[in-house]
Amino acid sequence: MENKLLIAGIGAGIGAAVTYLTSSMKKRKSFGTPVKDEDHEENSKLIKMDTDDTNTKHTVKESLNLDQMLREEIFNEQMNRTMLYYGEEGFKKIRGAFVIVVGLGGVGSPAAHTLVRSGVRKIRLIDPDLVTLSSLNRNALAQRKDVGRSKVETMKAYFHDICPEVEVEAYQTFFTGDLSEKLLAGEPDYVLDCIDNTTTKVELLTYCHTNKIRVISAFGAGSSSDPTKINITDISYTFGCNFGREVRRLLKVNGITTGILCVYSTEAHRKKLIPLTEQELEILKEQEVKPTLRVRTLGVSMPIPVIFGTSMACNVLNDLAGIPTVVAEEKRTPPPLTEYTRIFKLFIKKEMAIYHTPPTHLRKMMGAVDIRYLVDDIFAGKSIVSMSTSPNMILYRWRPENPIALNNIVYLTQKEGEIHESLKSVESHYSPQDIERIDKILSQVVVTSNSGDRQ
Ligand SMILES: *[C@@H]1O[C@H](CO)[C@@H](O)[C@H](O)[C@H]1NC(C)=O
Ligand SMILES: *[C@@H]1O[C@H](CO)[C@@H](O)[C@H](O)[C@H]1NC(C)=O
Ligand SMILES: *[C@@H]1O[C@H](CO)[C@@H](O)[C@H](O)[C@H]1NC(C)=O
Repeated sequence: MENKLLIAGIGAGIGAAVTYLTSSMKKRKSFGTPVKDEDHEENSKLIKMDTDDTNTKHTVKESLNLDQMLREEIFNEQMNRTMLYYGEEGFKKIRGAFVIVVGLGGVGSPAAHTLVRSGVRKIRLIDPDLVTLSSLNRNALAQRKDVGRSKVETMKAYFHDICPEVEVEAYQTFFTGDLSEKLLAGEPDYVLDCIDNTTTKVELLTYCHTNKIRVISAFGAGSSSDPTKINITDISYTFGCNFGREVRRLLKVNGITTGILCVYSTEAHRKKLIPLTEQELEILKEQEVKPTLRVRTLGVSMPIPVIFGTSMACNVLNDLAGIPTVVAEEKRTPPPLTEYTRIFKLFIKKEMAIYHTPPTHLRKMMGAVDIRYLVDDIFAGKSIVSMSTSPNMILYRWRPENPIALNNIVYLTQKEGEIHESLKSVESHYSPQDIERIDKILSQVVVTSNSGDRQ
């Protein structure tokens, strides 16, 4: 009872989490026994007390410590999978980090969102704009009700609801070079450049490069549609991209050609700036605004900017945690189908030599795609007998007395194959356990007619 009163003293904001924790504590206590209905009743009482102000006041002071402990437990539970993923040390570094996101459009909003969910200590949002209706087609966070509100304030509130333990600073302002020192103060661990204006972008990148602040920059994302063309690499490896070209040109003027990480797409841009209509030009004339680049519209859809933003955040989290983003061995490409064609040809030869199977008969039954299915998906590239791998492994008919079929084939090393080749029956050589295991694996093979030589 006392416990419940104390819990009731905690701010209403974490009521749901308290409910979760108490119910999971109960589950732990009553492990093995079914959850009773009265548990639900107790929980709903708890929520009611939680929102009851008169009850709350008396216990606020006494509960401060418990509040702190509970908050910590809630935070740790919320971050549990992230901690498991990055490891205790890695997560500690993420948790200790201060990151600045400049520009909160289609790229910046998902980047900031990802960092908040991952539990960084502090995040500073910098953007001058208000949420507009026409930006809701790509903004990862803003809603209809936010139209007209400041982007940074909208996101700050949203992020607080996700994780109040992440400190969010909202700076509603244009980033400009002369404000660099002020806006980037506080020794950030990382700066995310999600600015869409090349002039100010270059000012930001130059400041970070000169002051050795880790920075990652997004090039043009808006007019792309092919996610397979996205890459993260040093600016010196980037090419193409009208927006990137301008950024590189301006940076070179400042003597910078390398040392800045960029997310960019090699896709040729498909969309063009849409010129203003007569009517729009008329309105601008009335308002005495000169029609410049800025007032033209660019068609933009949601996916690529979001991938840019989450890719940036992914790279930042990896860097903070000390995990390499690109692992050398992952660069290898899967063997081409020609490799399976080679294995198939060898198998055809074996079948011909040992069982006099006509090649046309085999080719009708299976092709390189089926061989890839066997070798890769069923045998995982390993010998079915020894689970070892060796160069030049070969397929053999498993039970000599049974006709050839996709589910009567095994993958063996050369040595194992030499023995297998001379067997009259599998029982004469393999242990019953091995035979049972191998039969079981082969029973999983789905036999279809030749899947052809192409995908
Ligand atoms: C995460 O949760 C699991 C299972 O609930 C628990 O065993 C583990 O200690 C937790 N890990 C951390 C780092 O909190
Ligand atoms: C990405 O950049 C690396 C250089 O850092 C390059 O080797 C690789 O081919 C690029 N990938 C794509 C899809 O452009
Ligand atoms: C970029 O921002 C600067 C202000 O720093 C402004 O003068 C310029 O017009 C902007 N350019 C574009 C293309 O929006």
